[in-house]
Amino acid sequence: SETLTIDKPSIPSSPSLLTQDDLKQIAAYKAVEFVESGMVLGLGTGSTATHAVSRIGELLQQGKLENIVGIPTSKKTHEQALALGIPLSDLDHHPIIDLAIDGADEVDPDLNLVKGRGGSLLREKMVESACRRLVVVVDESKLVDGLGGSGLAMPVEVVPFCWAHTARRLESLFGGGGGAGRCVAKLRRAEGGGEPFVTDNANYIVDLYFAGPIGDVEAASDAMLRIAGVVEHGMFLDMATTVIAAGACGVTVKNK
Ligand code: 5RP
Repeated sequence: SETLTIDKPSIPSSPSLLTQDDLKQIAAYKAVEFVESGMVLGLGTGSTATHAVSRIGELLQQGKLENIVGIPTSKKTHEQALALGIPLSDLDHHPIIDLAIDGADEVDPDLNLVKGRGGSLLREKMVESACRRLVVVVDESKLVDGLGGSGLAMPVEVVPFCWAHTARRLESLFGGGGGAGRCVAKLRRAEGGGEPFVTDNANYIVDLYFAGPIGDVEAASDAMLRIAGVVEHGMFLDMATTVIAAGACGVTVKNK
């Protein structure tokens, strides 16, 4: 890994004045330095990835990038990229992607990720599985010792049919059981309402809350995918090739 100094001209002179959004922007802009004209690009989703998409749009408008094709990972990113004039396509037409830039919710020391708190994990995983290079951009609060250990949600996309049954099976997989166990599963609700949150693929999200790090993430991944109602989970194992983490003291770039 390599530690770089912050070089974005518009940041305040005192690093302590940087907001979390400034750090997200710094990481995202750093990642866009890897983008070259002619690339097919996976466009991530979330409050960090949105800075990368804006920057790519800006460079295209300035003529500093040419012949880019973007593959969005959500309807929201599709709309943003369209508004910026980024030419768009999909995996059916571009099954191999040169580079994707996306955020993450947790990053472990082996560059395994938790993603999907924004709800776009399925399309993100489909697009990013097709990438030669996945550059993950985060503020340093996302760095963890072990996936699941942050106490925040590990999202799982499930089919709506009998979602409560699927949630119970997920919970019991990890020694849960009604809230007192090692894992608690909760259906994600839409903002401000009692209605379930619905993904771009018309599915639901069950968020898993762990009492500590998951441990054997490969075994957990296999076991979750064997549950019939599970569409995909938010652990992105062995997919990131580079993680760019911005903190008040600078930007750290870690490569696989
Ligand atoms: C969306 C994602 C996001 O990349 C992840 O939730 C990080 O989001 P943010 O950059 O807003 O913190 O996986 O499904």
